[in-house]
Amino acid sequence: MKRIAYIEKKIHKFNKKIYVPGDKSLSIRFILMASQAVGKSVAYNILKSEDVISALLTIKNLGINYKINKKYCEIYGMGLNGFKFKNNTIINAGNSGTLARLIFGLLIDARNSIILRGDKSLSKRDFYRVIEPMKMFGQIIESKNNYLPIKIKGTKYPRPINFFERKGSAQVKSCVLLSAMKTPGITKIKCIPSRDHTERLFKYLKLPIKVKKKKNLEIITFNGKKNYKGFNYIIPGDISSSSFFIVLTLLSKNSKILIKNVNINKSRTGIIDILKKMKGKINLKNIKNNMGEKVADIVVQSTDNLKSINCPINMNSRSIDEFLLIFLVASQAKGISKFKKIEELRNKETDRLSFGNNLLNKIGIKTKMTQDSIKIYGNPDLKLKDTYEIRKFDKDHRACMVSFIAALTLGGKWKIHDIDSIKTSFPNFISLLKQIGAKIN
Ligand code: S3P
Repeated sequence: MKRIAYIEKKIHKFNKKIYVPGDKSLSIRFILMASQAVGKSVAYNILKSEDVISALLTIKNLGINYKINKKYCEIYGMGLNGFKFKNNTIINAGNSGTLARLIFGLLIDARNSIILRGDKSLSKRDFYRVIEPMKMFGQIIESKNNYLPIKIKGTKYPRPINFFERKGSAQVKSCVLLSAMKTPGITKIKCIPSRDHTERLFKYLKLPIKVKKKKNLEIITFNGKKNYKGFNYIIPGDISSSSFFIVLTLLSKNSKILIKNVNINKSRTGIIDILKKMKGKINLKNIKNNMGEKVADIVVQSTDNLKSINCPINMNSRSIDEFLLIFLVASQAKGISKFKKIEELRNKETDRLSFGNNLLNKIGIKTKMTQDSIKIYGNPDLKLKDTYEIRKFDKDHRACMVSFIAALTLGGKWKIHDIDSIKTSFPNFISLLKQIGAKIN
């Protein structure tokens, strides 16, 4: 039975300190990199969500053992040749695009055929983006129109590649890097900048990666194939999960929140820069380095004179997972906000550009949407009284969570369906909301 949430009251003013769970991108990368290390790796504060469990089950299916408890997650890697490839092993990536795209790279040396599948939503997402480079490495791939399920067989003699990643996709870049890790010789990637956690993790592990930053382009070279030892890792809080609480606070009255120990990698903090440009009151404190990544405490205060934004396109990949929240803020800002070249939003767990557009129209906000852009006519005086039902979002956790934030800040009566979708990335989202005073049934 799909569970439903009912919200009938805005959140009352609050002043709280919270911790959000570990970063999803880092948790999945830790598991995959540890699975290729020689010996035991340990991570603290790993995210315990469905996507991360899918990653653990995936490496287990390929012969790698792990242990997970409240305090830590241990993985017993067996080096770059350590996976066991039994013929027709089925790997189920569930809802996780990151897991599915990254594991593709690690299957470059699969001696037998592996079948990669996912849930209904993941089976509607494009895999040509990773099939293209993986074929260049020498992988043999069978698929129906580049969608899951896909049959993958590796090669004994992978070839290093020169690849141009044009979408600004960290999943594609990371897939190529993970395959390059198992491929002798120099792989070169020219790419539009995107989140750089994989590169940072490689540097932390002292792997031979070089990154040259040009204006709107990066050149990455990596010399494979070198084994590395098991490692320790501490995973900071997830900025994408924090963002729901940042926006909740900005759009509430007389409230304040302190979010402790969050990853503030520059390739992820587009939302902070955008909201600050819109005059949102957000400050970072206690900035520290943590194993190649930056962390900080985030302080946010309610803001009632938000301004519209003409969002620079170089912010797009830096805030790719936060656009639904940014659209919601734009709907409450004075003036017309414009977002361009955001077609990638249509390729997420659901078509987030259409979802955002429909959500805003539902609550009476005027928009103009094209295939790759949206204009939002903000209305800071909006007062909601009707009943709103959120039903169609293909199990997209972020679409589901943004509806909670709209309900708790804008008023009206809300019925939000399929709330277990949230478990893919943020299982304690609702209990954290309740902890700061939200009334949810
Ligand atoms: C992710 C990259 C992004 C993001 C996803 C996580 C990652 O996808 O949307 O939630 O961990 O590499 P793209 O790289 O496809 O933009």
